[in-house]
Amino acid sequence: MHSINPTTTKSWKALLKHSAASNGVHLRELLYETSRFKSMHIRIEDLLLFDYSKHRIDETTLKLLENLFDECKVQDLLEEQFRGVKINVTENRPVLHTVLRDPGIAPFIVDDQDVRKASKIELKRMYEFSEGIRIGDIRGHSGRKIKNIINIGIGGSDLGPKMAVESLKPFSNRDLKFHFVSNIDGSDLHECLMQIDPEESLFIVASKTFTTQETMANAEVARDWLIQKLEDPACVEKHFVAISTNSEKVNDFGIKKENTFGFWDWVGGRYSLWGAIGMPICISIGSDNFQELLNGANFIDDHTRKRPFRENIPKIMAALGIWYRNFLNASTHAILPYDQYLHRFPAYLQQADMESNGKSIDRNGKRVNYSTGGVIWGEPGTNGQHAFYQLIHQGTELIPSDFIASVIPQHPLHEHHSKLLSNYLAQTEALAIGKTIASTPYKKFEGNQPSSTILFDKMNPFSLGALIAIYEHKIFFQGAVWNIYSYDQWGVELGKEMARKILPEIDGDHLDSDHDESTKGLLNHIRDLSNKADNN
Ligand code: F6P
Repeated sequence: MHSINPTTTKSWKALLKHSAASNGVHLRELLYETSRFKSMHIRIEDLLLFDYSKHRIDETTLKLLENLFDECKVQDLLEEQFRGVKINVTENRPVLHTVLRDPGIAPFIVDDQDVRKASKIELKRMYEFSEGIRIGDIRGHSGRKIKNIINIGIGGSDLGPKMAVESLKPFSNRDLKFHFVSNIDGSDLHECLMQIDPEESLFIVASKTFTTQETMANAEVARDWLIQKLEDPACVEKHFVAISTNSEKVNDFGIKKENTFGFWDWVGGRYSLWGAIGMPICISIGSDNFQELLNGANFIDDHTRKRPFRENIPKIMAALGIWYRNFLNASTHAILPYDQYLHRFPAYLQQADMESNGKSIDRNGKRVNYSTGGVIWGEPGTNGQHAFYQLIHQGTELIPSDFIASVIPQHPLHEHHSKLLSNYLAQTEALAIGKTIASTPYKKFEGNQPSSTILFDKMNPFSLGALIAIYEHKIFFQGAVWNIYSYDQWGVELGKEMARKILPEIDGDHLDSDHDESTKGLLNHIRDLSNKADNN
């Protein structure tokens, strides 16, 4: 794989000059140019409209960013990814989550495995199982219908399924209740177990590795709880399924092969909702709708590979992100869905983006000399307007944002929707244009805050699949330009290792003298208070 320091390219240097020269230009001047909207939006018929005209860019900016993509050979890297080249070098793996949504049937052999065939077999098994639960063919130990689905998983084994189940609630089977237990904080599992009837509950233990501390601790306690309640160890068979790449560990846990749904090393945790990790989504919306989710993502895969730069939504989004991060010093990016069903989308994207591009070592093993991934955050509108928008409107930070909505609502309250959309448009306009005439400086708005408008015709499984895939590819392109490995996550390891070391010190007598003074002080405080509580 090639390794190009983007700062050494001609276009990067030109972008530096261009950003200095265009520094004083205000969106107020740009946004009244006739034909600006026409030339800076992308319409995909029957799906969405992407407006990128409310950005601090002109034709030169876009041309230079396109040149940067060419010089950094991002398209070559994208094709390598799709071909199954091991672009996840530090884990020695290909990156093929796109295969999970690829309708093709011709053999696609990677490392002696037909990845297409393997993925279709597991998908079919998941569809059959999900339908069995939905229609009541698959029942609990005592023959009762399953009504509660409890997903036990964390990170990619939680955020994607939870976000999608919430986002597609209007398409869900309302007789089923979904619970997501992720945290090692016992209150998460405790609160869930208090709400469910064991005879009507299905636990999905979702973990790529099947070694994650939080998931294994929660799954073990849930299993013991179930056995205690149903008074028969054999009940586990009817109430537990596993989703994992580690069949050995699943077997050790006591879940049989027929209740295990697999995936593979070539699917990253945060890119895994398209396969068996999507089981809660599939049970919720049914296999036909799940297939639509895959179709939407696959449509965007095609779009991303084939559309030229100016018609390519993920490329434009990635390029804008690089423009703000590296040339205008923005350090955060807000994700603002004007869609209550999408309320978990910012949290989902935090992992997808920050775990992928929060890296500082380049593909040559050297520290980068430029900024990489920024902070992703957000909340649904209009709630955010009454919370943090003040800072975006009148604070000192440059905060580019993505405003996501749909023209057609997913509920019958049409007047609400008009009000929602009026806020949606008003905010992007107010952020860009500002307000210069006011009775006091406190009431002035500088404006010039950029935003993208991602406006779906309507939200449905296809649209959601497309939306997620757009961001996946955006993340990919940014990592490609930044010359980092987007598909590993070594940065999560140190904390896990240290927690393992500290765990016996919380309850035991021994304290490791290696700890820094602050950690030692805090550990002693916790031990003292816990001992006192135990003695009372
Ligand atoms: O700790 C980070 C991480 O490895 C994520 O990348 C992953 O999505 C999550 O933990 C859960 O991992 P697993 O699915 O193996 O339990």
